[in-house]
Order: sequence, then structure tokens, then C-alpha cells
Amino acid sequence: MAEEFDRIRRLPPYVFSEVNRIKADLRSKGEDIIDFGMGNPDMPTPSHIIEKLKETVIKPGTGRYSVSRGIPGLRKAQSKYYKKRFNVNLDPEKEVIVTLGSKEGLANLAQAMTTPGDIILSPNPSYPIHPYGFIIAGASLRHLPTMDDGIFNPELFLERLDRSIRHSSPKPVALIVSFPSNPTAQVVGLDFYEEVVKIARKHKTYILSDLAYAEIYFDGKPPPSILQVKNAKNIAVEFTSMSKTYAMAGWRIGFAVGNQKLIAALTKIKSYLDYGAFTPVQVAAAAALNGPQKCVSEIRSIYQGRRDVLIESMSRAGWNIPSPEASMFAWAPIPTKYKKKGSLKFAKDLMTKAHVAVAPGIAFGEYGEGFVRIGLVENEQRIRQAAKNIKKLLL
Ligand SMILES: Cc1ncc(COP(=O)(O)O)c(C=O)c1O
Repeated sequence: MAEEFDRIRRLPPYVFSEVNRIKADLRSKGEDIIDFGMGNPDMPTPSHIIEKLKETVIKPGTGRYSVSRGIPGLRKAQSKYYKKRFNVNLDPEKEVIVTLGSKEGLANLAQAMTTPGDIILSPNPSYPIHPYGFIIAGASLRHLPTMDDGIFNPELFLERLDRSIRHSSPKPVALIVSFPSNPTAQVVGLDFYEEVVKIARKHKTYILSDLAYAEIYFDGKPPPSILQVKNAKNIAVEFTSMSKTYAMAGWRIGFAVGNQKLIAALTKIKSYLDYGAFTPVQVAAAAALNGPQKCVSEIRSIYQGRRDVLIESMSRAGWNIPSPEASMFAWAPIPTKYKKKGSLKFAKDLMTKAHVAVAPGIAFGEYGEGFVRIGLVENEQRIRQAAKNIKKLLL
């Protein structure tokens, strides 16, 4: 009998589990941990969305299997969102699919499009499902370092991308991009996407863009969609999510849109795997997209307020952190005193000595070392308290 299953062997030990174990242990002893560790929104889902769910759930028939690729009304609502927000036209029949959160969509598209041994280009550091969705599907990865000493240099990235594709044999099947980035909070402009599309078209490489933070941006600068690039649909799909935009993380609703061949592949594989999200959840998600968007700007401004308090209070504590332009994270360089010890040791010390949980950069890939990720998921008062605790540690 196999000692360990092949697919499981390809997944490295989960770095978060060590930090989570310490957190659980301290909490069980009654300690209050200020928890910036996960990207789990703490705000309530807006009440009109909850009301729509309640109104729908009591209707006859809603407990039946739903539609795997999503109910038509929700696919149409997503298509309208892309038109209004990005001026991108999408056919809700062929170019939009509803997923059980964007993570599920990414993982199942990887299954749908990968032949074992295929090469995939994945930025590093990255949100784990980007590389591991493909690893689970049997692909081989080429990592593209995105940051150099915490700085993103678009020209350097594009050069690396082109070189990486040229030197891959076989040619990479797909490239993953995700901006605003989790974990680095890095943003890009449309001109960057134009170059990425140009390179990918030249080498016939598909692009998977994860735009989970499309609406979590600050200082009035909305991030673009890769589908705004002319003809990008010929090679690209994009994932978005209700999780952060409407504080609906537990509802598990996201979307993939764009390239018809990739959407058809995902639709087919999902038709074997699931019956779609619970219909009332889909109806409520459509109400969220079609309804008033004031709740989105309210959620956005809560994150922005927290960002400002974080940067300012940590700076007073002696920790200078670059101010993120988008996402719900700050990507913080390890303070000099801890630099040599690495991100895991620093995260553990923050937890045990300052009672503050952060995610070690190494958990997002080897090029994440030297940094920790701070989630904006605690209120302003608790962020200030965390800064006071950290100040003592850094003295
Ligand atoms: C970049 C990125 N993509 C996808 C997800 C998962 O989103 P969903 O809840 O839609 O699966 C997250 C969640 O943190 C994320 O940061």
C-alpha cells in the first residue's frame, strides 16, 4: 500500500498550521490574540443581500439542485458589472460562469486544462491556490519572482516572463497573474496588462487573471481588468469574487469570465462535479450586483481607514510599512532586529510576545521570505493596540 498518495506528496507542509497551532494554544489559555493572519473579512454582509436570501429561501423548489454553471440572472448580472465597471462586453451564455468562490473556479479550471507534465508560470510569492491548483492537477511550475527587495519592477517582470517562456520546454500552457496581489498588495496599470497579453499571444500561452480585489482599492484608484486589453479574450480568463467586495466570503460565490474555450472547459468539468451554489445564495448574489453599490464603498472605506491607522501606528512603533494601494493586506518587511531570523520566527515571536498574529511571507513561496502579510481584518482600536504591543517587542 502506498505510504503517501502521490498528489498529497506534492503538497508541502502547510506553514500556517504551525502559526495556527500556537494561536489556538494561546487562545485556549485565555489570551487575546489580535489576529491579522487570515484574509477573512470581519464585516457583516450588507443587510439587503441577507434579506434577499431570506425572501428566496422560503420559496418552493429552492432546495432543489441548482444550475452548475450558475443561474442565468446571476450570469447576466456579472456581465452587466463588467460592462459598467470595465466597459468589457461578455456574453452571459458563453463567457461567464458562476463558481463556488473564485478558489474553486481556479482549482477546477486547472484540472480541466492540465495534462500531467504541462508547465505553468506562477508568480511567487502568491496566493497558494495559484500554484497548487496546478500542482494538484499534475503540472510542473516555473516560478516568476515578482518583487525585488519588496519593490515590483514591471519591466523586470515582463523580461523574466518572456525569458521564462522562451526557455521552457514544452512551452507553458498558462500564466497566472493576480493584481491587486495577495499577499503583496501590488497593483498594476492597463499598460502592464497590454504587455503581458502581447507576450502571451506571441507564445500562445493562456492567461488566468485573479481579480479578487477588484473593488478593494484606496485613494480613488480602481484597478483595471486584463480583459480591457483589446483581444485579451482570445487568451485570457479572469476570476472575480463576491467574498471581499460584499463581505460574502462564507457564501462561496465567485465568477470566471472571458475566453470561451476555457469557460466551456470549466463548465464541462464542473457539470460532473457540482450542481451549482444553493439557488437562494445565487439569487442574493444577483441582488448584490444589481442593487445599490453604496455598501461596496462603505466596505472599501473601512479597509482604507484601517490601512491608514495601521501604517501610521506601526510607524510610531518603529516599523515602517509601505502603504498598500489596494487589497486587504499590507506587505511588511521584517524589522531589522528580526531580519536574519526569517518570517516564520518573526511571526511566532509576534504571536507569543506581542499577541499579534500575522502570516509569514514564506507561506506564500520562497520569494516571500523577508516579509509578513498583515490582513486588515481587525478594527482600528485593535490595530492601535497591536502597534503598542509590537513597539515593546521592537525596542
Ligand atoms: C487573490 C485571491 N484569490 C482568490 C481568493 C479566494 O476567494 P474566494 O472566496 O472567492 O474563493 C482569495 C482569498 O483570500 C484571494 O486573496
